[in-house]
Amino acid sequence: MTPYYVTTPIYYVNDRPHIGHCYSTTIADVTARYARLLGRDVFFLTGTDEHADKVIERAREHGMTPQAWADACSEEFRRAFADLNIVSDVFYRTSNPEHKRLAQAYIAKLRDRGDIYLGDYVGWYDTSQDEYLTETVAKEAGYKSPVTGRPLERRTEKNYFFRLSAYQERLQAHLDANPEFILPEARRNEVLGRLRGGLQDVPVSRAVGAGDSGWGVLMPDDPSHRVYVWIEALCNYLTAVDAPERRRYWPASVHIMAKDILWFHAVIWPAMLMGLGEPLPRVVYAHSYYVRDGQKMSKSLGNFLDIDTLRGYLARYGRDAMRWYLATQGPLYATDADFSYAKFVEVYNAELANGLGNSTSRVGNMIAKYFDGRVPDHAGREGEGEYHWASIIAASVRSAIAAADRLDLGSALQEGVALVRRVDGYINATEPFKIAKRLESEPGAKERLGAILYQCAEALRVASLIMSPAIPEATAKLWTAWGCAVPEAHATRTLGHLSQWGGEHSLRPGAPLNKGEALFMRADPALPEPGPVTGA
Ligand code: MSP
Repeated sequence: MTPYYVTTPIYYVNDRPHIGHCYSTTIADVTARYARLLGRDVFFLTGTDEHADKVIERAREHGMTPQAWADACSEEFRRAFADLNIVSDVFYRTSNPEHKRLAQAYIAKLRDRGDIYLGDYVGWYDTSQDEYLTETVAKEAGYKSPVTGRPLERRTEKNYFFRLSAYQERLQAHLDANPEFILPEARRNEVLGRLRGGLQDVPVSRAVGAGDSGWGVLMPDDPSHRVYVWIEALCNYLTAVDAPERRRYWPASVHIMAKDILWFHAVIWPAMLMGLGEPLPRVVYAHSYYVRDGQKMSKSLGNFLDIDTLRGYLARYGRDAMRWYLATQGPLYATDADFSYAKFVEVYNAELANGLGNSTSRVGNMIAKYFDGRVPDHAGREGEGEYHWASIIAASVRSAIAAADRLDLGSALQEGVALVRRVDGYINATEPFKIAKRLESEPGAKERLGAILYQCAEALRVASLIMSPAIPEATAKLWTAWGCAVPEAHATRTLGHLSQWGGEHSLRPGAPLNKGEALFMRADPALPEPGPVTGA
C-alpha cells in the first residue's frame, strides 16, 4: 500500500477552537478518509503548538504552570475535533519530550552544516514592553512604543539565523519543476512573486527570558537561547514520523493550512528540509478564509463562530451535516467563503435530506414492499439508453478519484450528489411507482420493477461510497441496513473494487436489504439559528 501522510497546522493553545481550526482539520480528515478509501496506507496528523511566548504569559495570569495551561487548552482542541468525528492517527503536542529532542537535533544538524549561525540582530526595542517591533510597526508608531509612547531603542543582540538566502535558487528550481507543489495556483503565483524579491536570512532564536521557566526548545549547546517557536513548530511534521515504524510516511503527501501561514510552509520549511537532506512534501495546500455573512470573523465584531456555536449545529443536525457543509461549501479554493445559516439549511436539505436520504429511503421502501426486503434481480440489465448504469457509475468513480487526488474535495463529493440526481431522474423517467400498480395485471412487470430498483440501489450504494468521507455516520448506517460490503484500506475493498458493476461486492439478488431508518431529517428553515452549546 502506498503511504499517504496528511497534516493540518498545529494550533496555538492560547485560543479556543473556532470554525477556522475546525475547517482545516475537517478537510484533512476527509482527505485522509478518501485516501483510505483509495487503498492507501494513511497517517493523519493534527495537534497543538504549545511553546508560544503567550502561553507563558497566560499561564502566569491564571496562576498555572505553562504545562498545565497547555494541557487544558490542548484538550479543548482534541475534544472539538472528536465532536466533529475527526479521527487522526495521532493528536500531536509539541510539548512532548520526543518532539523537543528531535527538533533540537534537527537544529543542531543545520548548525553543524553551517545553515544556522550566530549573528547580530538589529531592531527597534520597546523597553516598556520588552519586545522587538518590526521596522514597519516601529515606523508607523513614529519610533515610539505603541503602548506607552516611550521612545524605542535601537538595539543589537546576538541571535541565531537560518541561512534562508542560500536556498533561493533551489527553491525556485523546485517550484518550477513541480507546478503542484503549492496549491491552489493563485497561492503559488503569490509565493513565486515574493521569491523573486529575494530571500533574507531569518532569525531562529530568542534570548531566554528570566521567567521562561524552561518552556520551549533550547538551542543546542547554548541554553541562553530558545528556538523560535515557528521554527520548532514546523519540525513537528517530521518529528511525528521520525521513528522506525513511521518513517515510511515521510515525505508528507500534503500539508494543509490557510493562506496566512503559507510562507512558512512553502518557503522556510522546505529550505530547512533541504538543509536536513530530507525530501520535500509533495503538496503544500493553502485554503482561504471563512468569513461570516460577508464580514471577516473577529472577536470585536462578535460574529465569531466558535466551537460552542458549532456544537449548537451539531446538536440539531448531527456531525455529518456540519462535515458536509464544511467540506463542500468551505473556502477550499482561492476565494474566501461565507458561513451562513440559511445556506447551511439549504445545502443540507438539497443534498442530504432530499438528496441521498430521500432517494435511499424511496428505493429501500419499494424493495421492502414489493420484494420482501430482498435485493431484486437485475435480470441481466445494466440500464438502457442514457441510463447505462455500468458506465455512468464507472465514470463517476473515475472523476471522484481524480478530483480527490488533486485535493478537489468539493468536486469529488459532488460526484456522489450528481449520481443521486441521476437516480432521481431515472425514477422519474421509468416511474416504478406506476409499474408497481400493474404487478398483477401486466406480465413481466415484476421483473421490470425489480431491475429498475436494483439499478437504483446499486447506483445509490456507489453514490454513498463517494460521499462517505464527509458523511461517515450516515453512510455506515445505510451500508448496515442494506447489507453492503464496507470499505477497508485493503486491496480488494477500495472504492475501485467496491464500485464495480457486477463485481464481487455489488448487491446480490436475494440478499436481505432493510429499508433502515431515515438517514437525515429534513431541516425546517423557519427555525432560528441554533444557539451555542457549551461542551460538556
Ligand atoms: N501555530 C501556528 C501554526 C503552526 S504549523 C507548524 C498557527 N496556529 S493558529 O492556531 O493560528 O492556526 C492557524 C490556522 O487555523 C490557519 O492556517 C487555518 O488552518 C486555520 N484558520 C484560522 N482562522 C481561519 C479562518 N477564518 N478560516 C479558515 N481557516 C482559518 O498559525
